[in-house]
Amino acid sequence: MPTDKIPVLEVSDIQATVLRPRPSPYRGQYVVLRIDDAAQGREMLRRIIPYVAPADDWWLPTLPGWMGIAFTYHGLEALGLPATSLKTFPQEFREGMASRASILRDVGDSAPANWEYPFGTRDMHVAIAIYSKDEESLEATLALARQSHHDLPNISVVYRLRFSELPNGCNPFGFKDGLHNPNVEGSGAVVHPGSGRPVKAGEFIMGYPDELGATAISPEPEVLRRNGTFVAFRKFHMRVAAFRHYLREQAASPEDEDLIAAKMVGRWRSGAPLALAAEQDDPELGADQDRNNAFGFGDDMHGLKCPFGAHIRRVNPRDALKNELVATNLHQFLRRGTNYGPPLPEGVLEDDGAQRGGVFLLIGVHQRQQFEFVQSQWITDGNFISHGREEDPILGNSGGEGFFTIPKRPVRRRLHGLPQFVAVQGGEYCFMPGLRALKWLAGLEAGPTAE
Ligand code: HEM
Repeated sequence: MPTDKIPVLEVSDIQATVLRPRPSPYRGQYVVLRIDDAAQGREMLRRIIPYVAPADDWWLPTLPGWMGIAFTYHGLEALGLPATSLKTFPQEFREGMASRASILRDVGDSAPANWEYPFGTRDMHVAIAIYSKDEESLEATLALARQSHHDLPNISVVYRLRFSELPNGCNPFGFKDGLHNPNVEGSGAVVHPGSGRPVKAGEFIMGYPDELGATAISPEPEVLRRNGTFVAFRKFHMRVAAFRHYLREQAASPEDEDLIAAKMVGRWRSGAPLALAAEQDDPELGADQDRNNAFGFGDDMHGLKCPFGAHIRRVNPRDALKNELVATNLHQFLRRGTNYGPPLPEGVLEDDGAQRGGVFLLIGVHQRQQFEFVQSQWITDGNFISHGREEDPILGNSGGEGFFTIPKRPVRRRLHGLPQFVAVQGGEYCFMPGLRALKWLAGLEAGPTAE
């Protein structure tokens, strides 16, 4: 059971990416490295550690930007982590995300066979996220990142993706994003009304008790796991023209288009939640951090305001499942998202062929209970809300056969033939160590006896 004592989080040892929001506006790049020589990998790590931001000081005034760093299973292996330690990592991390495709319903266009290189291969070792405020700072930070390996021939860059904030802080579909994250107990983050009751830090960071009162005992050794966590990295292509086109086809008027879109997400494009603004958008509410999360679904048990199947109600049912045998706090994770690609100009309904979408970092210690549970039980299945095979209208993967139920009186509205609006283009589980653990990894001696 959860303890009442609130542990003091070692925020100077936890990576900023775990606990702190990205800057706004932001510009950045994901870089993936492959290590073909363990000693060079550790040298690269030693050089990069000074730029990895801790959660207590993530805008170091002396630096133009900051970095987060995480490792795949094959990355830890390539760094020379002994097998005795590697085998203590959780199963999903050891197997890799591509091997979990049937559980995650990564099929059809989203199947690993269609992922971009190096996702799903043994070549993805180190993932680095570089965040800056503007282009100039980004260039300067990228130069620092390059210096970490430019003279190390056995370290190669196998992937790069630029990302940046879209106008008004929206995602490519036009919805305001980054509005809700769980309230991590003891994290020192600003708590707004509606953040929910504090969730025990051990759900998100190792070294502290979790919601069941347990503190992680693996991976081993302790110095490696302390203040570390796991990240489910997911890259999505978003079919913006198809989304707009579908709304146009289904709607009786422009207002109806906005309403259907809001019903699918559970919020209007401004961020205003349907639970508080059921009839029409309220941009002031959407922009008000003290109000835009101050809601539950417990007073909407017929789904007349926010459909049961809406994205935000599925992925976080808040108080709507409180009478069920589901402990919703065991299925929360932190979300750090970024957008890539140019926005599709307003009003355009034809695809212009550009690559655009979002990258999500879903962060938590118990990925099987967190990301994997939500993805397999709440996003790609409708049983928990008595909706049979109905999937999340935004993330569903039914390839044109999807449907979406909007409760309404006297008769419900049901949309058919939902196209697949997003396709997974890559994903992987990564381990994001604390700063002391990074130094420990960088100091590993080569060979299986090192510890
Ligand atoms: C292209 C893919 C996705 C799109 C377009 C999308 C869109 C959105 C939007 C517009 C919101 C509301 C604003 C906010 O709180 O940030 C939201 C919230 C959320 N999304 Fe997604 N999302 C996507 C993928 C995912 C994935 C893969 C997951 C997890 C498996 C997820 C989990 C969540 C959660 C937990 C929330 C917060 C719900 C709440 O408590 O209010 N989303 N998403």
